[in-house]
Amino acid sequence: MKEFSKLFQTADWKTEKHVPIIDCADEVKAGDLFVATVSVGKEIAHPNTTEHHIRWITVYFQPEEGKFPYEVGHFEFSAHGESAEGPNKGPVYTNHEVALTLKISKPGVMFATAFCNIHGLWQSEKEIKVSN
Ligand SMILES: [Fe+2]
Repeated sequence: MKEFSKLFQTADWKTEKHVPIIDCADEVKAGDLFVATVSVGKEIAHPNTTEHHIRWITVYFQPEEGKFPYEVGHFEFSAHGESAEGPNKGPVYTNHEVALTLKISKPGVMFATAFCNIHGLWQSEKEIKVSN
C-alpha cells in the first residue's frame, strides 16, 4: 500500500511550476477579513491546455493549537479550451489563480493543494500569525 505522504509532492515554487503559492499577510488581526491569493506557476508558467492543466486548488487552515484542519475553500478551474471543434479550439480557459477573503481568530498554518491533471498533487503551506 502506498503511503499517504507520497500522494503529495512539494518543492520550491521558484523552481517547480506545480507548487501552489499562497500570497497573504504574514500577520492578520483577529476577526478582520483579509485577502489571500493562491496561484500556480508564478515564476515558471504552468500550461493551460485541454491536455495539460491545473484542475483545482483546495485551501485548508490548521490552527496552531488544533488537531483538525478546516477546509477554507475548493476552487475548480473548469475550462481548458475544450470544444466541439476539438481540443484547444474552445474560446475559454480558466486561469489557475484564485483570490479568497477570510478571517481567522487564531494563528495557524494555511495549506494549499493543487491538482495537475497529469502531474498529480502538489502542496505548500504558509504560517499566519494573529494579533488582537
Ligand atoms: Fe502539470
